[in-house]
Amino acid sequence: MNRTSNNGTRERLRIAIQKSGRLSEPARALLSACGLAWRESRDRLFCYGESLPVDLLLVRDDDIPGLIADAVCDLGIVGRNVLQEQAGERIAAGKEQAFREWRALGFGACRLMLAVPETWQWQGAAELAGKRIATSYPALLADWLRAQDIAAEIVQLSGSVEIAPRLGQADLICDLVSSGATLAANQLKPVEMVLQSEAVLAGPVAVFDDVRAELADLLLRRLEGVLKIREGKLLLFQASREIVPSLIDLLPDADPPIMTSIDGSDRLALQALCHSAVTWQRLEDLKRAGAAGLMVVPVERMLA
Ligand code: PRP
Ligand code: ZN
Repeated sequence: MNRTSNNGTRERLRIAIQKSGRLSEPARALLSACGLAWRESRDRLFCYGESLPVDLLLVRDDDIPGLIADAVCDLGIVGRNVLQEQAGERIAAGKEQAFREWRALGFGACRLMLAVPETWQWQGAAELAGKRIATSYPALLADWLRAQDIAAEIVQLSGSVEIAPRLGQADLICDLVSSGATLAANQLKPVEMVLQSEAVLAGPVAVFDDVRAELADLLLRRLEGVLKIREGKLLLFQASREIVPSLIDLLPDADPPIMTSIDGSDRLALQALCHSAVTWQRLEDLKRAGAAGLMVVPVERMLA
């Protein structure tokens, strides 16, 4: 495998990703889009980088922060929820921070939510006083309760949190919600948000002081390009000159639009590169503000 010397320097970069689960496929796809390719090993836990000296380690997501802390891996793709929970656990144990979020990756969005049985007439967080809350995220939940100045009991479970209320182990739960199907299937409803999460690139707190620094820079640069295009959409529309400023106010994430007069009139054709999702809602807002002929076009390649 890799040559690792005693002082922890390495000549190849090692990235940990989830072996199987929600983030596993999109994480691999994102790294492939950055030009990484691997030779699959027989045990399929370690993939040797062929296009660049960047190897993959396929692991359980919960192990990723610890692997970075122990310098077994250099970087990881993991949910912000896992990363922040383990950072909180380290603080509680008096350990120093050994990893941090380097960059949000724009996929795997989910929320850590408090959820109660559907029959509960929820009045607000004050109702939580003295209640038992089952969760696999005790540090994040404890932080949130402290910030709300609520004294509740945390029941730490490693899995199957959603059945705890039915088993009488807890009054409510604090768990990840993505589609909401798991909550619905267990007759629970989300009531308070503890953390907004998505997949992130995690790395050490300190910078690398060997060839890994260049490899990490290269990866970050490529990620920047890939994510920019992924989110980038060209928005085409027409409007009369006097309402253009108010339309631009509705496009805070867009580059300054290119404007062309239609037949020399006060009617303009505009094209604006938007850097986040152009949803139906946004199109309707623009139409209401006077834009016409709205069209959203995906961007294939960009060279500034
Ligand atoms: C989360 C959570 C729920 C499920 C919710 O698990 O614990 O079981 O996802 O998703 P839904 O709202 O779409 O139904 P996760 O995928 O993080 O797996 P893990 O906890 O086993 O790592
Ligand atoms: Zn997990």
